[in-house]
Amino acid sequence: MSDETKKIKVTIDNITIDVDPGTTILNAARRIGGDVTPPAMCYYSKLEGSGGKCRTCLVEVAAGSAADPRPMPKLVASCRTGVMDGMIVKNITSDKVTDARNGVVEFLLLNHPLDCPICDQAGECHLQDLGYDHGKEGTRYQFARRTFKKEDIGPYIQLHMTRCILCYRCTYVADQITNKRLHGIVDRGDHAAISTYISKAIDNDFSGNMIDVCPVGALTDKTFRFKNRVWFTKPVDAHRSCTTPGCCGKATLWLRGEEVFRVTARKDEWGEVQSFDGKPGWICNTCRFDTKATASWTIEGLTTISRHSVIGANKYKTLEMPKETIKEVMHGVEPKLLMDIHSVSGVNNPDIHLSDIDRPAHSSDFKK
Ligand code: SF4
Ligand code: FES
Repeated sequence: MSDETKKIKVTIDNITIDVDPGTTILNAARRIGGDVTPPAMCYYSKLEGSGGKCRTCLVEVAAGSAADPRPMPKLVASCRTGVMDGMIVKNITSDKVTDARNGVVEFLLLNHPLDCPICDQAGECHLQDLGYDHGKEGTRYQFARRTFKKEDIGPYIQLHMTRCILCYRCTYVADQITNKRLHGIVDRGDHAAISTYISKAIDNDFSGNMIDVCPVGALTDKTFRFKNRVWFTKPVDAHRSCTTPGCCGKATLWLRGEEVFRVTARKDEWGEVQSFDGKPGWICNTCRFDTKATASWTIEGLTTISRHSVIGANKYKTLEMPKETIKEVMHGVEPKLLMDIHSVSGVNNPDIHLSDIDRPAHSSDFKK
């Protein structure tokens, strides 16, 4: 095997996988998926240079590599640390990590207003999710929260600087996608804020993507603001032939009945914009803000929403049967006896197979 193709082994929370050299711990964990994957508030795989700002992705390295198995003395940012062959990493299996993450969340919430009930990001806010997973009841902070003067950044995007967690993602979007960055982080410490020039950066075909990358409600869509709670809308995947160079034309429409309340880029399981043909699927402002008629779009079907998300409540796709056969689930062991309980069940309506219906069961599916 040549050096280029040689994989390296990494064990994360007792699960071992082979990855390419140069892979970060976070991306290796994303290959495993589920709870093993650390949360990431500032890293965004489609934005070069992102990560290393928020510390939510901290993990414990219990063994640095097979060649040097000493543990790393401090927790490390998994989005910025590359894996080594034989590395052993602990995420959810480490008490130190849980403790540190609780502390990071407490710090992130020091100045962040707890205004979820009136924030448009509620239901899809990564900080809200993190707060529910790692937050503590109450606060130890006794000082006035940091606030900022309101800044008007045009007709499409609402900036709420008080909610910003300084993840830098929007500045990377401006830098790498709009090709016209005029805003950045100014000042230091408690006074740090994005831009005094942000209003100028917004005048760009792709500025709306800043809303999609913002993990909190600091940048929200003015055309959607206060119109609806996101969990009352129905997200569907749709596309149109867009002529803006660089726009993929593939979006998620957030419907209420036939009305399009909001258009966003399509997101993957990590909350990042999906890639199409190997390129990030950014959408232009014309698709996002000015194309709100269903007739302008070809609707493909319901968007897949994580089953843990409040947005998925009461939205059903057709039934998807698990692909595993019983033998696979039982690690190669053939079942000795399979019982068809349907025919002997005293509960089910004999004409209805509960596993075949593509909706939730209701009382008429059972014997009276
Ligand atoms: S406005 Fe949002 S995307 Fe920009 S730095 Fe603040 S939290 Fe991050
Ligand atoms: S995601 Fe790693 S430091 Fe923010």
